[in-house]
Amino acid sequence: MTEALDAARVIRARAGGEAIDGAVILGTGLGEVAGHDDADVVFSYADLPGFPQPHVSGHAGRLVIGRRGGMRVAWLQGRAHYYETGDARAMSGALEALAALDVPRLIVTSASGSTRDDLAPGALVRLTDHINFSGLNPLVGARGDDRFVPMNDAYDAAFGAQLDRAAIDAGADLPHGVYMWFSGPSFETPAEVRMAKLLGADLVGMSTVPEVILARRLGLRVAGLSLVTNFAAGFAGGAPDHAGTKRVAAEGARRLKQVLDHYFAAAGDSP
Ligand code: HPA
Repeated sequence: MTEALDAARVIRARAGGEAIDGAVILGTGLGEVAGHDDADVVFSYADLPGFPQPHVSGHAGRLVIGRRGGMRVAWLQGRAHYYETGDARAMSGALEALAALDVPRLIVTSASGSTRDDLAPGALVRLTDHINFSGLNPLVGARGDDRFVPMNDAYDAAFGAQLDRAAIDAGADLPHGVYMWFSGPSFETPAEVRMAKLLGADLVGMSTVPEVILARRLGLRVAGLSLVTNFAAGFAGGAPDHAGTKRVAAEGARRLKQVLDHYFAAAGDSP
């Protein structure tokens, strides 16, 4: 936690003391959603103690803080994944820094593979829940009773409903789905995808879940948005690859940005 406090101090020193109302973690190919203008404060993760050094193409490793609509927002362009180092806590420093800055809400975005016909590549999906079938948990080894984090409301329903309304305002479809975490970095086998679908997963992906667990322990309210970049392996001919993930994510980024712009424009008006 001391690194997180140091990072929070570095951020405050340049971004000032004004409240940061929300944070967005931008997944593979989605970094550009942050946009940014001259009024924004931009940090390299390298200058923020405890922040991850992403090693995946499609991830910038930059924190942008600026005003969007009615809110002051921290955009995390790039994340660290479990598969990079085998550390499920890879994002804990960054999330602890957000908590130290009293950021109340977090939107976690990702790219994913779909197990549903009606969620074709390009679909933007709001997560209503997740399945952690990995056997991993970022809180293994944590001390204190707050490690027993309730996950009933991990994806906050009221927060999610605000995003639903923003999507309607933006004229964008925002179907709902359940996300299942696979460690990666290899993609799933067709048999694994059949299992995931059978168990109730609409989407499969390699991120989000450890971050949501960590964020819930820290008390942030969480919403999840995932951009379907492909049908999951073997499903409807799905044959994922990283180049395709980055390409389709970049194409879908504009829609994600529209939904978020409408959310932040409206959010200044509601608690
Ligand atoms: N599987 C896992 N992660 C992903 C996929 C997928 O099919 N597509 C984008 N990220």
